[in-house]
Formats: sequence, structure tokens, C-alpha cells
Amino acid sequence: MSVKTIVYKGDNVVLIDQTKLPLKEEYAVCEDYKAVGRAIKNMLIRGAPAIGVAAAMGVALGAQSIAEESFEKFECELNKVCAHLAGTRPTAVNLFWAINRMKKVLEANKDKSIKQIKKILKDESKRVLKEDIEICKQIGANGADLIDDGDNVLTHCNAGALATGGYGTALGVIRGAHGQKKKIHVYADETRPFLQGARLTAWELMKDKIPVTLITDNMAGYFMQQGKIDKIVVGADRIASNGDAANKIGTYSLAVLAKEHKIPFYVAAPVSTFDFDIKNGDGIPIEERHEKEVSHVFGKRVAPIDVMICNPAFDVTPNKYITAIITEKGVIENPNRKKILELLK
Ligand code: MRU
Repeated sequence: MSVKTIVYKGDNVVLIDQTKLPLKEEYAVCEDYKAVGRAIKNMLIRGAPAIGVAAAMGVALGAQSIAEESFEKFECELNKVCAHLAGTRPTAVNLFWAINRMKKVLEANKDKSIKQIKKILKDESKRVLKEDIEICKQIGANGADLIDDGDNVLTHCNAGALATGGYGTALGVIRGAHGQKKKIHVYADETRPFLQGARLTAWELMKDKIPVTLITDNMAGYFMQQGKIDKIVVGADRIASNGDAANKIGTYSLAVLAKEHKIPFYVAAPVSTFDFDIKNGDGIPIEERHEKEVSHVFGKRVAPIDVMICNPAFDVTPNKYITAIITEKGVIENPNRKKILELLK
């Protein structure tokens, strides 16, 4: 896709404001790390790998503004920046992965001058972006072989270029298959309540001229029953070491329906989305978002005033429903702890 999700430009981090898409292509300029934090929290940038890139750039941006000259004081200030960014969203593990990566780089360069360290951190954040694009292309190449010519592929939320540094994970697989000249057609779930499918996936695929039909979330089962869906490919926000995968709310229902209809259900994600510290999906924190996302549609109230509302942003699909997890290191069929650790650790 020609549009850039996020770049470190001069002294600023510039990102496409995804809350404005598809009606407006506007860029938000983040002049400091707090602006990056707000962009993540308010979902101007979203999607696990993209959140990771933004966090790395936020840490680098924060580092530039620290006036301290001793390493100890610099590190103390940078830890505050990291803690601020870590508090923005809880589920996508890529956020914490990226912050830890930046902290490790700081530790490894403690003998350098503060000026040198600032440059090293900035370069590292740019490397996180560059690597993410390469990783997604590799996920796309590894997953493309699972998609057949003529397939109708269902996806949920947006796991595309906008959700990553570029190219995408689930949409990376679709781009990979499309690049192999396979004729594929995508069904995009609109993905209530935030409408990432309607606003972002449909827009992104149309921009790349990949055929896409938009459906509401509650139509997915009907299309499966009608034999209209050949494969399902989604992304992930955090995958436990046994393969249980958290992704956008509604993913679990798709996976259960897929099993009933014998439709392969694939999860595409980089290794940075795995949380080897947790045994299974029970350990994945699920973000609860503001009730207004449910009660209102585009700023207009659609639900009765004072009705009780829940708004969990993610759900967990147990590994038994996942046909395979597609990573940059390879494809893990019928994922379990042993297979995951063998390939990825
Ligand atoms: O709340 P969001 O929009 O950040 O949720 C995004 C998703 O659930 C994506 O499917 C996931 O992050 C994978 S992105 C490659």
C-alpha cells in the first residue's frame, strides 16, 4: 500500500490518523512522547505490530527531550517515558515487547555519551519499523501457499498495512496470495464497535485493487453456511505459549463457526506477538473500552440513555480452533506449546 502508517520524520513521529479514515487521509504529527501515547490510547494508530512500532518511536522521541547528562539520571527519566507508554493499551503484547527492546538497547550502550545514546535509540526505533515490514512480507510469503486460486477469504478487524509498519499480517497473507496471481476475493467483517473492517480493511484492500465485499459481523455465519467462505485469516494481539490467541472481539465466534463448517481458520502474527511468559489464554489481559463506542455510532447515540453496556475489545480463541498460526519463521499447524517453542524460541 502506498500510504505510510507511521514514520519518524525529522524530530517528529508522523502517523496516518486512522480515526479519520476512510473519509479523510490526515496525518497526525507527534512532537513528543505524550502525543504518541495519546495516539495509541485514542487509536489514531492501532493494530498490535503498529502499536509496537509507535511505542519504540515514542521511547526514542522521549529520549531526545531528556536534558540529563549522567547515564543514571537519563535512564531514570527514560523509564518514566516507558512506563507512560506501557500504560496506554493492555492487550497487544507488541507494545511491551517494543519498549523492552528499547530498554535493552539502552543498557547495551550505557558506556556511550548521552548524545550518542539518543541517536542510537532513534535509529533503533526506525529499525523496528523496517524489520516489521520485512517480517510481514515473510508472513505473507509463508501464508500465501495456504490460499488457493479462487478462494473466498474472510477476515475480521484490520490486520493490514495500517495495523503494522506496512503490508500487514492477515492481509499480508492475502497480499502474498494476490501477488502470486491467485484470484482471491475477501469478505471483510465490519467489526463493531470500532468498525476497523468497514473503515480500514475495505479501504486498504480497495486501494490495492484486491476484490473485497463488506459484511456486518452477524452475517459471517450465514455466508459460511452458504458455502461462500473457503478460508478465514485473522491477526492477533497476543498469543499465549500454548497457541491460544487474543484478537479483536468477535474472532472467537468466527473460529467456533469455522470448525462447525470445516473451514480452515488461520492466525497470522509475528513472533513478537507471542507471550512466552503466559501458559494459556486465561493470562491475557482484555482491554475494556469506553461504553460510548457501543452506545454511539459516529457521535450519534443509538442506545437508550443509562442502558448498561459492556465493551471488551478482544476475545481469546483457544488453540483447538486454530488450524495453523502463520509466522515469519514458519507455519505451525494445530498449534500447541511444544510445537511453538520448537519453532520460535
Ligand atoms: O483495537 P485494535 O484495532 O488495535 O485491534 C486490532 C486487532 O485486533 C488486530 O486484528 C490485531 O492487532 C492484529 S494486527 C496485525
